[in-house]
Amino acid sequence: MRRDFTTVTTLQERKESGDKITMLTAYDYPTAKLIDQAGIDIILVGDSLGMVVLGYENTLAVTIEDMIHHSKAVTRATERAMVVTDLPFMAYKIGDVSQTVQNAGRIIKESGAMAVKLEGGSEISEEVRSIIKTGIPVMGHLGLTPQAVNRFGGFKVQGREEAAAKKLIEDALVLEQSGVFAIVLECIPAELAREITEQLSIPTIGIGAGRDCDGQVLVSQDMLGVSLDFTPKFVRKYADLNQQMSIAFRNYKKEVENGSFPNQEESFN
Ligand code: KIV
Repeated sequence: MRRDFTTVTTLQERKESGDKITMLTAYDYPTAKLIDQAGIDIILVGDSLGMVVLGYENTLAVTIEDMIHHSKAVTRATERAMVVTDLPFMAYKIGDVSQTVQNAGRIIKESGAMAVKLEGGSEISEEVRSIIKTGIPVMGHLGLTPQAVNRFGGFKVQGREEAAAKKLIEDALVLEQSGVFAIVLECIPAELAREITEQLSIPTIGIGAGRDCDGQVLVSQDMLGVSLDFTPKFVRKYADLNQQMSIAFRNYKKEVENGSFPNQEESFN
């Protein structure tokens, strides 16, 4: 039973009061349950799923079905956090706004998520408006937008040059005017994130965007230390689960092989 759950209104109140917003990713039931119980405001079922759980090199192969499948597990676990699900690559920006709206609607109807997140600026403003018209809240995402990794030529900091910074500010304002309830700012200089945060009346949520955003988000696998590959500079590791899991798997193998597992207490008479 959902009680006291985070809504777009709660988040707007945080912007106004200056209380920080917390957001983490989750893709499965137990992780979502722990995040929810920890009082995190938003759980993002991000398409980072493709990289940190499914083993793809980037997020491009993730499908709507993948997003629905994992979002269902997350919403089943969630009582108070707002669940936001990414629209994956090729579910929008496909030259067919009505198809975009259908895709967003499918995610909400089939998974129980409360909102969708789309990457991009002024080029998606019509799609954002059309989704919002149906009653679905939309979160924006600017800066290093991983679905454009091949256009960026890799996972690189964005908005360093003056023209690029100006474009990001303009995009943020267009998204706000289009009705998004918050914007993720990924991998941009801290000063630029501060400027955008000051110019907007909706919350910004930063990842690799410094401390002046209205909230912060991290990929849970990164902050828990369970990512097998590269860990970005902006990640703080709050645990080293990789090491603990590796020790546990090796000890299990050893104890099965030497006959010490299972013992009498772990067996039925
Ligand atoms: O997919 C994702 O996890 C994201 C976050 C990095 C914000 O979009």
